[in-house]
Amino acid sequence: MLLRVERMRIILMGMGVVGQAFLELLELEKADLYRKYGLHPVVVAASDSNSMVYNPRGLDVQRLLNHKRSEGTLHGFPDEVQGMDLVREVEAEVVIDVTPSNFRTGEPGISHLRAALQTGKHVITANKGPLALEMPALVEMFQHKGLRLLFSGTVGGGTPFLRFVGKCLSGEKIVSIRGVINGTTNYILNRMEDGISFREALREAQEKGYAEADPSNDVDGWDSAAKLVILSNWAMDLGVTLKDVSVRGIRDVEITEDMLSRGKTVRLIATADESGLRVQPEEIDRRDPLVVPGALNAVSFIAEISGRHTLIGKGAGGRETAAALMRDLVELKMYLGGVEPCS
Ligand SMILES: NC(=O)c1ccc[n+]([C@@H]2O[C@H](COP(=O)([O-])OP(=O)(O)OC[C@H]3O[C@@H](n4cnc5c(N)ncnc54)[C@H](OP(=O)(O)O)[C@@H]3O)[C@@H](O)[C@H]2O)c1
Repeated sequence: MLLRVERMRIILMGMGVVGQAFLELLELEKADLYRKYGLHPVVVAASDSNSMVYNPRGLDVQRLLNHKRSEGTLHGFPDEVQGMDLVREVEAEVVIDVTPSNFRTGEPGISHLRAALQTGKHVITANKGPLALEMPALVEMFQHKGLRLLFSGTVGGGTPFLRFVGKCLSGEKIVSIRGVINGTTNYILNRMEDGISFREALREAQEKGYAEADPSNDVDGWDSAAKLVILSNWAMDLGVTLKDVSVRGIRDVEITEDMLSRGKTVRLIATADESGLRVQPEEIDRRDPLVVPGALNAVSFIAEISGRHTLIGKGAGGRETAAALMRDLVELKMYLGGVEPCS
């Protein structure tokens, strides 16, 4: 095999848990990426919420990470720039968006995606907001421009739910999807089975870092709904957005002794089937494959011919999500012509 090695210039928007884990992984895997795939990624620009850095020859990734970790900001880094619109103005092949998911406005991710589209850049994203609100239009616009929009990290962190259904079940018609796709609520419901209240379980989830200070996107079902939109558009080509999902969270759930003694429990189930899309707490048999412990996720894809396929894995985590971004980066390299046959 002959590898065509070219610089893949990256603009990284977001330097939080996932952004930092991605840079760490990039440093760690540098030699392998080059050797196996002819991939030579160069981070030319990066941004957090209030500062940005840019160097057309490539930023020193380790120094950048050290600076962000010690100072909590990119402000003061030697390559700091001001007043630039990085996605629009910087020359690069790909924008990686790991800014916060906003399910009301989609910002700042939607602006990053539109700017990438207008300036001919591919996008890899873990940000669910833009896709939850505008996935059908965004996918069409990227296709129309011959650009790739890759989003493995948006559902399941490092567990390849999207890739599984897209690649392993390709050629099959997916007739429905049922899944537990929010680790925080799954953790809370598991602890409620142990007899503690919703409030106590939520506090515990926050102490363990599963739930955010404002847990409403998780416990009210919006994070699951966003992922359901992405999954069902991808696997079933439904052309839906968040407004098409009926959403109910777990704040009023009770798990009773009687329920448990009947071999039942409650899980927050996201479903896409012939009656539409919904996220709601459902009573479910405790032996069902979707009843998974802790903060795990599980998704069942029901294929018309081959039936039910269930994939279980960790649904989040900085390193795991960074691994999904890396898979997308390798896929992009392949798409751009990474491996050529021996002559
Ligand atoms: N964490 C996970 O396990 C996980 C799993 C799957 C998907 N995701 C998704 O991945 C994304 C990132 O998650 P995370 O856990 O890394 O979040 P995070 O720790 O809150 O990091 C978000 C980063 O975005 C920066 N940011 C905010 N507004 C920005 C703007 N306008 N321009 C540029 N940067 C901006 C923040 O800046 P400051 O550093 O200045 O605050 C921060 O560096 C989210 O959309 C999340 O839903 C996360």
